[in-house]
Amino acid sequence: MQILIPADQIAHRVRELADQIAREQQGRPIFIIGVLTGCLIFLADLVRQLDLPLQIHLVQASSYRGAVTVPGQLQLRLDTLPDLTGREVLLVDDILDTGQTLSKVVDELRRRGAASVRVAVLLRKEGRQQVVFEPDYIGFCIPDAFVVGYGLDYNDEYRHLPYIAVLSHPSGRG
Ligand code: IMP
Ligand code: MG
Repeated sequence: MQILIPADQIAHRVRELADQIAREQQGRPIFIIGVLTGCLIFLADLVRQLDLPLQIHLVQASSYRGAVTVPGQLQLRLDTLPDLTGREVLLVDDILDTGQTLSKVVDELRRRGAASVRVAVLLRKEGRQQVVFEPDYIGFCIPDAFVVGYGLDYNDEYRHLPYIAVLSHPSGRG
């Protein structure tokens, strides 16, 4: 496996993102919503750098089923969320690939009455987006490769790696 982004670079960038978010939020409480399972490590590191009053909630979205790396049917589970009316939401996910997942989740959070919904992704994959969607905070732009580590998985493995690595031969991709 080839390391694309080492752990120290991720840590440095996460601190920068947290500073930017805190600056723009100006002390107002923020309602963090993480998209499981990929957000896990990014979210944990990000919130510990965020100097703001905040709450953390989690939703589940999965578009990759089993051992394939091509997007499948999107499954969303938002039933764990409390009332969002008037909340300033920051949605946190690991990676923006086609954009299907985040654009649907954002629509749903707005529909539920959030005052604002901003989006933070650790990674944005270039040349893959299928829907028009601009995240507010992006850690790194990466080339179109299948990556794992720092929360990102292949068939539910490799999430614990402290760096982002390119998986050489995932099935389902040439
Ligand atoms: P999207 O709906 O196509 O943007 O897909 C978003 C989800 O697909 C992410 O939250 C990830 O869980 C997963 N995903 C997309 N690309 C990768 C990758 O390179 N490695 C691991 N998971 C990925
Ligand atoms: Mg995900």
